Amino acid sequence: MGSHSSNRTRVPLSRMAMGNGHGEDSPYFDGWKAYQIDPFDPAENPHGVIQMGLAENQLCADLIEEWLIDHPEGSICTAGGSDKFRDIANFQDYHGLPKFRNGIAIFMGKVRGNRVKFDPDRIVMSGGATGAHDLIAFCLADPGDAFLVPTPYYPGFDRDLCWRTGVKILPVNCKSSNNFKITKKALEEAYNGAVDAGIRVKGLIITNPSNPLGTTLDRATMKDLVDFVNEMNIHLVCDEIYAATLFRGPDFISIAEVIEEYDDDCCNRDLIHIIYSLSKDMGLPGFRIGIVYSYNDDVVRCGRKMSSFGLISSQTQHLIASMLSDDEFVERFIAESSARLAKRHGYFTHELERVGIRCLDSNAGLFVWMDLRELLAEQTFEAEMVLWRVVIHKVKLNVSPGSSFHCSEPGWYRVCIANMDDQTMEIALARIRSFVLENMMGNCMRVVRSKESKAVECKLKVSFSNRKMEEVMKMPCSMSPCSPMPPRSPLVRART
Ligand SMILES: Cc1ncc(COP(=O)(O)O)c(C=O)c1O
Repeated sequence: MGSHSSNRTRVPLSRMAMGNGHGEDSPYFDGWKAYQIDPFDPAENPHGVIQMGLAENQLCADLIEEWLIDHPEGSICTAGGSDKFRDIANFQDYHGLPKFRNGIAIFMGKVRGNRVKFDPDRIVMSGGATGAHDLIAFCLADPGDAFLVPTPYYPGFDRDLCWRTGVKILPVNCKSSNNFKITKKALEEAYNGAVDAGIRVKGLIITNPSNPLGTTLDRATMKDLVDFVNEMNIHLVCDEIYAATLFRGPDFISIAEVIEEYDDDCCNRDLIHIIYSLSKDMGLPGFRIGIVYSYNDDVVRCGRKMSSFGLISSQTQHLIASMLSDDEFVERFIAESSARLAKRHGYFTHELERVGIRCLDSNAGLFVWMDLRELLAEQTFEAEMVLWRVVIHKVKLNVSPGSSFHCSEPGWYRVCIANMDDQTMEIALARIRSFVLENMMGNCMRVVRSKESKAVECKLKVSFSNRKMEEVMKMPCSMSPCSPMPPRSPLVRART
């Protein structure tokens, strides 16, 4: 982009536009930039950065492609469907096509095991879940008001909820000691902290299943949340955009099911809102299909007036309505997607375990929450960043550090596993094995060189058993040509 105004005084943009509310000054986005500069390509750039920082679901794209080939009438842009072109191209009702809202309502029910029904008239459209969060924050809070958000949380919330609305996020600190469960105590601490600071709390926002943890909330915790928001008279916004990424038990329980168990005088439904999108569950982030499902009539009314800012294009609504009306396809898609995610997750975590890396036990999501605390030179966020830089610049994997998810403890990293094919996954795993091996060798050399007893402690920084080490040594990839590791691990150097 060139500038034509070099001799003129610059007219500044708005304070909000010029501020850093976009949230892009974060290693989460830095990792993406590193990938963009040097993207892995098996033929053109085999030593490039592999993108493991993008929560995309590409494992079932073939099923959608097949459906599109078999159903040309579903699109107005094919010979088979162009007879609907004029009608659909002219459609611009903010409510959305009735068949689209119906299709989404039925799909949401299916994904939740048909244990609950959704009313199409409560669906408000938005540009992806991103637009839905912006819309709900605008509807519920004034500038300066706050939402409580349990940590670790999706980094995009800092932008989506706050940038245009002037709303604040207050973290609810969750800990690894109980697998990052949300406790009443943590909620109360965050709430009381806000009250003491004179900040008005307007709501609690949760992501279930969680990004980045890949876990689902149990019923007791959900009830605690419902009780808490009713007691404080604040809103509860549940981002359920990973609902269909569940690949094993325990079941995903939607807030829609939980509130069914309450009488009206114990739960004020006006406080409950769901954010949904087809970006993750159907792997269609480019279609920008997001919705707010609110039990609050005022929010539905206001949201609908606003939805013109981020309407889903009518041709997308038309196509998705056709696809979702095909029950057989939808059921097969949900089951197959879950099976493929289970396979990918099982394989990846098993291969990590073989080299001594463990992840938080999870049952959903497009990622794992990897525990590298033992690889940190010290338990600080600085050390987390040192290791992250090694992983991105030397191992050439873009994973995202826990600090970018506002995790309260250093040493956790989110690794996306569903945005690549099997071959790329193998290369990523080969790089991880080489990395671990390099560290073991580096540490062993140091142990041999040092006669001091402290050396033992140093060796244990990567605490693997001898058997585990033997296993890693035998792995075929340890000398992989894809290994970007230099002869001596920079991680070892970083520690010294
Ligand atoms: C929890 C969560 N909410 C919202 C979004 C944004 O989704 P969309 O692509 O539908 O805007 C993401 C994307 O990663 C996410 O993880």
